[in-house]
Amino acid sequence: MSTNLPEFVPPGTMEVLFSKEQIAERVRALGKEISEEYAGQAIVLIGVLKGAAIFLADLARSIEVDNTFDFVAVSSYGRARVSSGAVKLIKDIDNPIEGKHVILVEDILDTGLTLSYLRGLMLQHKPASLKIATCLDKPERRLVPIEADYVCFKIPNSFVIGYGMDYAERYRGVEDIRIMPENPPGH
Ligand code: XMP
Ligand code: MG
Repeated sequence: MSTNLPEFVPPGTMEVLFSKEQIAERVRALGKEISEEYAGQAIVLIGVLKGAAIFLADLARSIEVDNTFDFVAVSSYGRARVSSGAVKLIKDIDNPIEGKHVILVEDILDTGLTLSYLRGLMLQHKPASLKIATCLDKPERRLVPIEADYVCFKIPNSFVIGYGMDYAERYRGVEDIRIMPENPPGH
């Protein structure tokens, strides 16, 4: 098997940006806010694979209103130098969302390219409403104007891993959000 992966950095040696307790507290607060805003209504959470899977799992369990969830997956081409068309859908939603209240759920809002592409795509399905929840927001890196409605934490421009987020597919299961010692290319 080929091993052209970057060297494994033990996650325990990386600086903790947010502990699992801090994350849990913010996710519960978002769940409460969402439950109040959508009281008496049903919502569909749409997670962006794979990064948002863990955040979505926790968020769904913090929401008291009627909810279902679905996933989409996207691929992007060399994010550092791309324009807004450079995201491709590789897995669409399984169930129709026309007339439904939808919340797109992401791990990080960074340049904004992914979520503005997905928002455009989801709006074509004519949901009753469409909002965005993201665990992290890096406002400094934005290339297109887009804001999330629900954010756990705003962060500066460091590359982070854990709580679903990866570097070269690793570290998604790390419970805290930690800072990668060196930003990968493009960041
Ligand atoms: P946009 O399109 O907003 O992309 O630039 C958001 C996606 O970029 C990835 N991303 C990160 N992934 N640590 C990660 O593990 C980071 O610090 C980071 N910053 C951006 C992520 O996949 C997100 O969905
Ligand atoms: Mg992602």
